[in-house]
Amino acid sequence: MRIGIDRIGTYIPSEVLPAEVLADAREIPVGKLKQGLGVHAMAVVPPWEDTVSLAANAALRALGDTVSVEEIGLCIVGTESGVDHSKPAAIFVHELLGLPSTCRTYEVKHACFGGTAALLTAMDWIASGSARGRKALVIASDIAKYPPGSAGEPTQGAGAVALVVSEDPALVEMDRSCTGVFAGQVHDFWRPLDQTQAIVDGKYSVDCYLEALEHAFADYARQQEGRDDADQPLSDRFARLVFHAPFPRMASKAHARMVVSDWKAHAARSLELPDDLTDLVERDAQARVDPTLWANQLIGNTYTASMYFGLAGLLEREATELEGKLLGFFSYGSGCCSEFFAGRVVAGASRVAGEIGLGEMIDRRKEVSMAEYERHHAKPDLRAMESPEKPGSHFSGPIYFSGTTDEKRTYAAQERGASFVR
Ligand code: HMG
Repeated sequence: MRIGIDRIGTYIPSEVLPAEVLADAREIPVGKLKQGLGVHAMAVVPPWEDTVSLAANAALRALGDTVSVEEIGLCIVGTESGVDHSKPAAIFVHELLGLPSTCRTYEVKHACFGGTAALLTAMDWIASGSARGRKALVIASDIAKYPPGSAGEPTQGAGAVALVVSEDPALVEMDRSCTGVFAGQVHDFWRPLDQTQAIVDGKYSVDCYLEALEHAFADYARQQEGRDDADQPLSDRFARLVFHAPFPRMASKAHARMVVSDWKAHAARSLELPDDLTDLVERDAQARVDPTLWANQLIGNTYTASMYFGLAGLLEREATELEGKLLGFFSYGSGCCSEFFAGRVVAGASRVAGEIGLGEMIDRRKEVSMAEYERHHAKPDLRAMESPEKPGSHFSGPIYFSGTTDEKRTYAAQERGASFVR
Protein backbone atom coordinates (compact mmCIF):
# COMPACT_ATOMS: atom_id res chain seq x y z
CA MET A 1 0.00 0.00 0.00
CA ARG A 2 1.44 3.42 -0.98
CA ILE A 3 0.97 5.81 1.97
CA GLY A 4 2.29 9.30 2.59
CA ILE A 5 1.76 13.04 2.42
CA ASP A 6 -0.98 14.05 0.02
CA ARG A 7 -1.15 17.78 0.71
CA ILE A 8 0.67 20.34 2.87
CA GLY A 9 -0.74 23.54 4.35
CA THR A 10 1.41 26.03 6.23
CA TYR A 11 0.55 28.96 8.43
CA ILE A 12 2.71 31.51 10.28
CA PRO A 13 1.81 34.41 12.56
CA SER A 14 1.36 37.74 10.80
CA GLU A 15 4.22 39.57 12.58
CA VAL A 16 7.99 39.23 12.37
CA LEU A 17 11.08 40.55 14.16
CA PRO A 18 14.17 40.96 11.94
CA ALA A 19 17.44 39.60 13.38
CA GLU A 20 19.02 43.07 13.09
CA VAL A 21 16.45 44.56 15.50
CA LEU A 22 16.95 41.83 18.11
CA ALA A 23 20.76 41.94 17.77
CA ASP A 24 20.79 45.70 18.17
CA ALA A 25 18.56 45.65 21.27
CA ARG A 26 20.48 42.83 22.97
CA GLU A 27 23.89 44.14 21.87
CA ILE A 28 24.81 40.89 20.11
CA PRO A 29 26.75 40.97 16.81
CA VAL A 30 24.16 40.37 14.09
CA GLY A 31 26.67 37.96 12.49
CA LYS A 32 26.18 35.63 15.46
CA LEU A 33 22.46 35.39 14.67
CA LYS A 34 22.68 35.30 10.87
CA GLN A 35 25.85 33.29 10.26
CA GLY A 36 26.36 31.63 13.66
CA LEU A 37 22.79 30.42 14.16
CA GLY A 38 21.35 30.94 10.65
CA VAL A 39 18.51 33.05 12.07
CA HIS A 40 17.49 35.97 9.83
CA ALA A 41 14.11 36.75 11.40
CA MET A 42 11.66 35.18 13.80
CA ALA A 43 7.89 34.97 13.85
CA VAL A 44 6.19 37.02 16.56
CA VAL A 45 2.82 35.93 17.89
CA PRO A 46 0.26 38.72 18.32
CA PRO A 47 -2.39 38.32 21.04
CA TRP A 48 -5.05 37.12 18.60
CA GLU A 49 -3.08 34.04 17.51
CA ASP A 50 -2.32 30.89 19.49
CA THR A 51 -1.45 27.24 18.89
CA VAL A 52 -5.07 26.41 17.99
CA SER A 53 -5.59 29.25 15.52
CA LEU A 54 -2.21 28.54 13.89
CA ALA A 55 -3.19 24.86 13.57
CA ALA A 56 -6.67 25.58 12.19
CA ASN A 57 -5.39 28.08 9.63
CA ALA A 58 -2.72 25.62 8.43
CA ALA A 59 -5.35 22.86 8.22
CA LEU A 60 -7.68 25.03 6.11
CA ARG A 61 -4.83 25.59 3.68
CA ALA A 62 -3.97 21.87 3.57
CA LEU A 63 -7.54 20.87 2.72
CA GLY A 64 -8.00 23.77 0.28
CA ASP A 65 -10.82 23.23 -2.17
CA THR A 66 -9.59 19.69 -2.88
CA VAL A 67 -10.12 17.58 0.25
CA SER A 68 -13.57 17.55 1.79
CA VAL A 69 -13.90 17.37 5.58
CA GLU A 70 -16.02 14.20 5.19
CA GLU A 71 -12.91 12.42 3.90
CA ILE A 72 -11.04 12.97 7.21
CA GLY A 73 -11.28 10.09 9.73
CA LEU A 74 -8.40 10.99 12.04
CA CYS A 75 -7.21 14.38 13.28
CA ILE A 76 -4.06 14.55 15.42
CA VAL A 77 -2.35 17.73 16.58
CA GLY A 78 1.27 17.36 17.68
CA THR A 79 2.25 20.25 19.95
CA GLU A 80 4.23 21.11 23.05
CA SER A 81 2.56 24.50 23.50
CA GLY A 82 -1.03 23.34 23.87
CA VAL A 83 -3.68 25.64 25.31
CA ASP A 84 -4.98 23.36 28.06
CA HIS A 85 -3.60 20.55 30.22
CA SER A 86 -6.60 18.38 29.43
CA LYS A 87 -8.49 19.62 26.40
CA PRO A 88 -6.63 18.93 23.14
CA ALA A 89 -5.97 21.64 20.57
CA ALA A 90 -7.27 19.09 18.06
CA ILE A 91 -10.88 19.28 19.28
CA PHE A 92 -10.96 23.04 18.71
CA VAL A 93 -9.65 22.41 15.19
CA HIS A 94 -12.31 19.72 14.77
CA GLU A 95 -15.02 22.29 15.47
CA LEU A 96 -13.45 25.14 13.50
CA LEU A 97 -13.12 23.00 10.39
CA GLY A 98 -16.41 21.15 10.80
CA LEU A 99 -14.80 17.69 10.83
CA PRO A 100 -17.19 14.72 11.07
CA SER A 101 -18.26 13.45 14.50
CA THR A 102 -16.86 10.06 13.44
CA CYS A 103 -13.34 11.54 13.13
CA ARG A 104 -11.00 10.32 15.92
CA THR A 105 -9.46 13.49 17.37
CA TYR A 106 -6.61 14.00 19.85
CA GLU A 107 -3.34 15.74 20.71
CA VAL A 108 0.10 14.13 21.14
CA LYS A 109 3.23 15.37 22.87
CA HIS A 110 6.87 14.57 22.87
CA ALA A 111 8.56 17.97 22.51
CA CYS A 112 9.47 18.61 18.85
CA PHE A 113 8.93 14.93 18.00
CA GLY A 114 5.13 15.27 18.45
CA GLY A 115 4.41 16.09 14.79
CA THR A 116 6.38 13.06 13.62
CA ALA A 117 4.69 10.84 16.22
CA ALA A 118 1.36 11.99 14.78
CA LEU A 119 2.45 11.36 11.19
CA LEU A 120 3.75 7.86 11.95
CA THR A 121 0.55 7.00 13.85
CA ALA A 122 -1.61 8.28 10.99
CA MET A 123 0.27 6.13 8.49
CA ASP A 124 -0.13 3.06 10.74
CA TRP A 125 -3.87 3.83 11.03
CA ILE A 126 -4.18 3.82 7.24
CA ALA A 127 -2.01 0.68 6.82
CA SER A 128 -4.02 -1.18 9.49
CA GLY A 129 -7.24 -0.83 7.49
CA SER A 130 -8.96 1.23 10.21
CA ALA A 131 -9.08 4.22 7.86
CA ARG A 132 -11.48 2.42 5.47
CA GLY A 133 -10.40 4.71 2.63
CA ARG A 134 -10.47 7.90 4.69
CA LYS A 135 -7.58 10.35 5.12
CA ALA A 136 -5.82 11.66 8.22
CA LEU A 137 -5.21 15.30 9.09
CA VAL A 138 -1.92 15.64 10.98
CA ILE A 139 -1.04 19.08 12.31
CA ALA A 140 2.20 20.23 13.94
CA SER A 141 1.64 23.58 15.66
CA ASP A 142 3.83 25.40 18.16
CA ILE A 143 4.99 28.63 19.70
CA ALA A 144 8.66 28.53 20.76
CA LYS A 145 9.26 30.86 23.67
CA TYR A 146 12.34 31.48 25.85
CA PRO A 147 13.03 34.18 28.45
CA PRO A 148 13.94 37.61 27.01
CA GLY A 149 17.69 38.17 26.98
CA SER A 150 18.45 34.43 27.30
CA ALA A 151 20.69 32.52 24.86
CA GLY A 152 17.56 30.79 23.56
CA GLU A 153 15.76 34.05 22.70
CA PRO A 154 17.07 34.29 19.10
CA THR A 155 15.84 30.73 18.49
CA GLN A 156 12.17 31.48 19.10
CA GLY A 157 9.47 31.33 16.43
CA ALA A 158 5.96 30.06 15.76
CA GLY A 159 3.90 28.39 13.07
CA ALA A 160 1.98 25.32 12.01
CA VAL A 161 2.16 22.78 9.22
CA ALA A 162 -0.82 20.57 8.40
CA LEU A 163 -0.44 17.36 6.41
CA VAL A 164 -3.18 15.41 4.72
CA VAL A 165 -1.98 11.81 4.97
CA SER A 166 -3.51 9.25 2.64
CA GLU A 167 -3.18 6.24 0.40
CA ASP A 168 -1.74 7.05 -3.05
CA PRO A 169 -0.37 10.39 -1.85
CA ALA A 170 0.21 13.22 -4.32
CA LEU A 171 3.35 14.68 -2.67
CA VAL A 172 5.64 12.27 -0.79
CA GLU A 173 5.34 8.50 -0.47
CA MET A 174 6.89 7.48 2.83
CA ASP A 175 9.00 4.35 3.31
CA ARG A 176 7.29 2.76 6.33
CA SER A 177 9.32 -0.43 6.17
CA CYS A 178 12.47 1.09 7.62
CA THR A 179 12.93 3.84 10.20
CA GLY A 180 15.80 4.34 12.64
CA VAL A 181 14.84 5.22 16.22
CA PHE A 182 16.69 6.52 19.26
CA ALA A 183 15.01 7.41 22.56
CA GLY A 184 16.43 8.03 26.03
CA GLN A 185 15.84 10.17 29.10
CA VAL A 186 17.81 13.45 29.06
CA HIS A 187 17.16 16.84 30.66
CA ASP A 188 18.18 19.02 27.73
CA PHE A 189 14.97 21.05 27.34
CA TRP A 190 11.65 21.01 29.21
CA ARG A 191 8.78 23.24 30.34
CA PRO A 192 7.29 22.63 33.80
CA LEU A 193 3.49 22.64 33.99
CA ASP A 194 3.22 26.13 35.47
CA GLN A 195 5.53 27.85 32.98
CA THR A 196 4.98 29.44 29.55
CA GLN A 197 8.69 29.54 28.66
CA ALA A 198 11.01 26.60 28.16
CA ILE A 199 14.01 25.78 30.34
CA VAL A 200 16.96 24.68 28.24
CA ASP A 201 20.52 23.55 28.75
CA GLY A 202 21.46 24.96 25.33
CA LYS A 203 24.89 23.51 24.55
CA TYR A 204 23.95 20.16 26.11
CA SER A 205 20.77 20.09 24.00
CA VAL A 206 22.89 20.42 20.85
CA ASP A 207 25.02 17.46 21.98
CA CYS A 208 21.90 15.41 22.81
CA TYR A 209 20.46 16.13 19.33
CA LEU A 210 23.69 15.07 17.59
CA GLU A 211 24.08 11.94 19.68
CA ALA A 212 20.45 10.95 19.02
CA LEU A 213 21.03 11.47 15.29
CA GLU A 214 24.06 9.19 15.32
CA HIS A 215 22.15 6.42 17.08
CA ALA A 216 18.97 6.80 15.00
CA PHE A 217 20.94 6.78 11.74
CA ALA A 218 22.91 3.74 12.90
CA ASP A 219 19.61 1.97 13.62
CA TYR A 220 18.40 2.95 10.13
CA ALA A 221 21.67 1.74 8.59
CA ARG A 222 21.48 -1.62 10.39
CA GLN A 223 18.08 -2.24 8.81
CA GLN A 224 19.38 -1.24 5.38
CA GLU A 225 22.25 -3.74 5.47
CA GLY A 226 20.40 -6.38 3.47
CA ARG A 227 19.51 -3.82 0.83
CA ASP A 228 22.97 -2.24 0.80
CA ASP A 229 24.13 -0.65 -2.42
CA ALA A 230 27.86 -1.20 -1.90
CA ASP A 231 28.91 1.49 -4.39
CA GLN A 232 27.38 4.36 -2.45
CA PRO A 233 27.47 5.50 1.18
CA LEU A 234 23.98 5.20 2.65
CA SER A 235 23.68 8.93 3.38
CA ASP A 236 24.42 9.77 -0.29
CA ARG A 237 21.22 8.09 -1.45
CA PHE A 238 19.09 11.04 -0.38
CA ALA A 239 18.62 13.88 -2.85
CA ARG A 240 17.87 16.22 0.07
CA LEU A 241 18.16 15.86 3.85
CA VAL A 242 15.47 17.51 5.95
CA PHE A 243 16.53 17.90 9.60
CA HIS A 244 14.69 19.23 12.62
CA ALA A 245 15.93 22.83 12.64
CA PRO A 246 15.63 24.57 16.04
CA PHE A 247 17.96 27.08 14.39
CA PRO A 248 19.11 26.55 10.80
CA ARG A 249 22.81 26.03 11.59
CA MET A 250 21.79 23.04 13.72
CA ALA A 251 20.80 21.29 10.49
CA SER A 252 24.28 21.94 9.07
CA LYS A 253 25.88 20.53 12.22
CA ALA A 254 23.60 17.50 11.97
CA HIS A 255 24.44 16.95 8.32
CA ALA A 256 28.18 17.12 9.04
CA ARG A 257 27.92 14.64 11.93
CA MET A 258 25.89 12.22 9.84
CA VAL A 259 27.75 12.23 6.54
CA VAL A 260 31.29 12.29 7.93
CA SER A 261 30.79 9.16 10.01
CA ASP A 262 28.89 7.48 7.17
CA TRP A 263 31.49 8.41 4.55
CA LYS A 264 34.31 7.26 6.82
CA ALA A 265 32.62 3.93 7.45
CA HIS A 266 32.23 3.48 3.71
CA ALA A 267 35.78 4.65 3.01
CA ALA A 268 37.04 1.77 5.10
CA ARG A 269 35.61 -0.45 2.34
CA SER A 270 35.75 1.38 -0.96
CA LEU A 271 35.93 5.16 -1.06
CA GLU A 272 38.88 7.56 -1.18
CA LEU A 273 38.23 10.55 1.05
CA PRO A 274 40.38 13.71 1.22
CA ASP A 275 42.24 14.23 4.54
CA ASP A 276 40.44 17.53 5.04
CA LEU A 277 36.76 16.85 4.61
CA THR A 278 35.60 20.38 5.40
CA ASP A 279 35.13 21.63 1.82
CA LEU A 280 33.43 18.45 0.72
CA VAL A 281 31.01 18.55 3.66
CA GLU A 282 30.21 22.23 3.07
CA ARG A 283 29.54 21.75 -0.64
CA ASP A 284 27.35 18.78 0.13
CA ALA A 285 25.37 20.74 2.73
CA GLN A 286 24.88 23.59 0.25
CA ALA A 287 23.44 21.16 -2.27
CA ARG A 288 21.38 18.86 -0.06
CA VAL A 289 20.50 20.73 3.15
CA ASP A 290 20.45 24.49 2.46
CA PRO A 291 17.45 24.24 0.06
CA THR A 292 15.40 22.95 3.01
CA LEU A 293 16.21 25.86 5.31
CA TRP A 294 15.12 29.12 3.65
CA ALA A 295 11.73 29.26 5.39
CA ASN A 296 13.14 28.24 8.79
CA GLN A 297 15.66 31.11 8.52
CA LEU A 298 12.76 33.56 8.31
CA ILE A 299 10.33 31.94 10.78
CA GLY A 300 12.51 30.56 13.59
CA ASN A 301 11.96 27.43 15.64
CA THR A 302 8.46 26.01 15.38
CA TYR A 303 9.22 22.92 17.50
CA THR A 304 6.94 20.12 16.14
CA ALA A 305 6.50 21.92 12.81
CA SER A 306 10.14 22.80 12.18
CA MET A 307 11.12 19.82 10.02
CA TYR A 308 7.82 20.06 8.13
CA PHE A 309 8.43 23.74 7.32
CA GLY A 310 11.72 22.49 5.87
CA LEU A 311 9.81 20.02 3.71
CA ALA A 312 7.14 22.55 2.70
CA GLY A 313 9.75 25.15 1.72
CA LEU A 314 11.75 22.57 -0.22
CA LEU A 315 8.74 21.31 -2.17
CA GLU A 316 7.49 24.83 -2.85
CA ARG A 317 10.77 25.69 -4.58
CA GLU A 318 12.11 22.39 -5.92
CA ALA A 319 9.30 19.86 -6.33
CA THR A 320 9.72 19.67 -10.10
CA GLU A 321 13.36 18.63 -10.04
CA LEU A 322 12.84 16.36 -7.02
CA GLU A 323 10.03 14.25 -8.49
CA GLY A 324 11.02 10.57 -8.16
CA LYS A 325 13.89 11.39 -5.75
CA LEU A 326 14.43 10.17 -2.19
CA LEU A 327 14.38 12.55 0.80
CA GLY A 328 15.86 11.74 4.23
CA PHE A 329 14.21 13.10 7.38
CA PHE A 330 15.54 13.44 10.92
CA SER A 331 13.06 14.39 13.62
CA TYR A 332 14.31 15.18 17.15
CA GLY A 333 12.25 15.91 20.26
CA SER A 334 14.07 16.89 23.43
CA GLY A 335 13.78 14.64 26.35
CA CYS A 336 14.36 12.69 23.99
CA CYS A 337 12.93 10.69 21.10
CA SER A 338 14.19 10.85 17.55
CA GLU A 339 13.69 9.08 14.27
CA PHE A 340 15.41 8.92 10.87
CA PHE A 341 13.16 7.96 7.96
CA ALA A 342 12.77 8.42 4.22
CA GLY A 343 10.19 9.31 1.61
CA ARG A 344 10.12 9.65 -2.17
CA VAL A 345 8.72 12.68 -3.96
CA VAL A 346 5.85 11.49 -6.13
CA ALA A 347 5.70 12.08 -9.90
CA GLY A 348 3.43 15.07 -10.49
CA ALA A 349 4.04 16.47 -6.96
CA SER A 350 4.90 19.90 -8.34
CA ARG A 351 1.23 20.52 -9.22
CA VAL A 352 0.19 20.22 -5.55
CA ALA A 353 3.37 21.84 -4.20
CA GLY A 354 2.62 24.90 -6.31
CA GLU A 355 -0.31 25.64 -4.00
CA ILE A 356 1.70 25.79 -0.73
CA GLY A 357 2.21 29.58 -0.85
CA LEU A 358 4.67 29.77 2.06
CA GLY A 359 6.94 32.40 0.50
CA GLU A 360 3.98 34.65 -0.17
CA MET A 361 2.83 34.41 3.47
CA ILE A 362 6.34 35.14 4.73
CA ASP A 363 6.54 38.25 2.54
CA ARG A 364 3.15 39.55 3.73
CA ARG A 365 4.11 39.78 7.43
CA LYS A 366 4.36 43.06 9.31
CA GLU A 367 7.78 43.87 10.80
CA VAL A 368 7.44 44.82 14.45
CA SER A 369 9.67 46.97 16.62
CA MET A 370 11.49 45.62 19.68
CA ALA A 371 8.89 47.33 21.89
CA GLU A 372 5.98 45.60 20.08
CA TYR A 373 7.76 42.23 20.25
CA GLU A 374 8.39 42.65 23.98
CA ARG A 375 4.77 43.65 24.57
CA HIS A 376 3.51 40.51 22.82
CA HIS A 377 6.13 38.35 24.53
CA ALA A 378 5.06 39.58 27.96
CA LYS A 379 1.36 39.05 27.35
CA PRO A 380 -0.28 37.35 30.29
CA ASP A 381 -1.35 33.75 30.41
CA LEU A 382 -4.00 33.52 27.67
CA ARG A 383 -6.44 32.08 30.19
CA ALA A 384 -6.68 35.53 31.70
CA MET A 385 -7.47 37.24 28.40
CA GLU A 386 -11.16 37.78 28.25
CA SER A 387 -10.99 39.83 25.06
CA PRO A 388 -7.61 40.12 23.37
CA GLU A 389 -6.99 42.72 20.69
CA LYS A 390 -8.75 42.15 17.38
CA PRO A 391 -6.53 41.09 14.42
CA GLY A 392 -4.76 43.88 12.57
CA SER A 393 -5.17 44.46 8.82
CA HIS A 394 -1.98 42.44 8.17
CA PHE A 395 -3.57 39.25 9.60
CA SER A 396 -3.59 36.36 7.06
CA GLY A 397 -6.15 34.36 9.04
CA PRO A 398 -8.97 33.77 8.85
CA ILE A 399 -9.24 32.07 12.27
CA TYR A 400 -8.22 33.96 15.40
CA PHE A 401 -8.39 33.60 19.16
CA SER A 402 -11.23 35.80 20.36
CA GLY A 403 -10.86 35.42 24.15
CA THR A 404 -12.15 33.41 27.05
CA THR A 405 -15.65 33.36 28.45
CA ASP A 406 -16.25 31.51 31.74
CA GLU A 407 -12.76 29.97 31.33
CA LYS A 408 -13.77 28.65 27.89
CA ARG A 409 -11.58 29.58 24.94
CA THR A 410 -13.33 30.99 21.90
CA TYR A 411 -12.26 31.47 18.29
CA ALA A 412 -13.73 33.43 15.42
CA ALA A 413 -13.15 33.73 11.68
CA GLN A 414 -12.40 37.05 10.07
CA GLU A 415 -14.81 38.15 7.35
CA ARG A 416 -12.04 38.87 4.81
CA GLY A 417 -10.92 35.26 4.77
CA ALA A 418 -14.37 33.79 5.10
CA SER A 419 -14.00 31.76 1.92
CA PHE A 420 -11.67 29.46 3.88
CA VAL A 421 -14.25 28.66 6.50
CA ARG A 422 -16.42 25.68 5.85
P1 HMG B 1 24.89 30.75 22.46
O1 HMG B 1 25.71 30.52 23.66
O2 HMG B 1 24.13 32.01 22.41
O3 HMG B 1 25.73 30.76 21.13
O4 HMG B 1 23.93 29.49 22.32
P2 HMG B 1 27.23 30.29 20.82
O5 HMG B 1 28.20 31.07 21.60
O6 HMG B 1 27.31 28.78 20.88
O7 HMG B 1 27.30 30.77 19.31
C1 HMG B 1 26.49 30.20 18.34
C2 HMG B 1 27.29 30.14 17.05
O8 HMG B 1 27.52 31.48 16.58
C3 HMG B 1 28.69 29.52 17.21
O9 HMG B 1 28.92 28.76 16.04
C4 HMG B 1 29.60 30.72 17.25
O10 HMG B 1 30.93 30.45 16.83
C5 HMG B 1 28.90 31.66 16.28
P3 HMG B 1 29.36 27.20 16.16
O11 HMG B 1 30.61 27.18 16.94
O12 HMG B 1 28.25 26.52 16.91
O13 HMG B 1 29.48 26.75 14.76
N1 HMG B 1 29.22 33.08 16.46
C6 HMG B 1 29.36 33.94 15.43
N2 HMG B 1 29.29 33.77 14.10
C7 HMG B 1 29.47 34.86 13.30
N3 HMG B 1 29.74 36.12 13.80
C8 HMG B 1 29.81 36.32 15.13
C9 HMG B 1 29.63 35.20 16.01
N4 HMG B 1 29.64 35.06 17.36
C10 HMG B 1 29.39 33.75 17.62
N5 HMG B 1 30.08 37.54 15.59
C11 HMG B 1 22.27 27.97 21.54
C12 HMG B 1 23.41 28.90 21.14
C13 HMG B 1 21.77 27.25 20.31
C14 HMG B 1 22.80 26.94 22.55
C15 HMG B 1 21.13 28.83 22.18
O14 HMG B 1 20.59 29.68 21.21
C16 HMG B 1 20.01 27.98 22.78
O15 HMG B 1 20.07 27.59 23.93
N6 HMG B 1 18.90 27.73 21.97
C17 HMG B 1 17.77 26.92 22.45
C18 HMG B 1 18.10 25.44 22.48
C19 HMG B 1 18.25 24.81 21.11
O16 HMG B 1 17.80 25.35 20.12
N7 HMG B 1 18.84 23.58 21.07
C20 HMG B 1 19.00 22.86 19.85
C21 HMG B 1 19.07 21.35 20.05
S1 HMG B 1 17.73 20.73 21.04
C22 HMG B 1 16.38 20.71 19.94
O17 HMG B 1 16.53 20.81 18.76
C23 HMG B 1 15.02 20.56 20.55
C24 HMG B 1 14.20 21.85 20.62
O18 HMG B 1 13.74 22.20 19.32
C25 HMG B 1 13.03 21.67 21.61
C26 HMG B 1 12.13 20.47 21.46
O19 HMG B 1 12.47 19.39 21.08
O20 HMG B 1 10.97 20.65 21.85
C27 HMG B 1 15.01 23.03 21.13
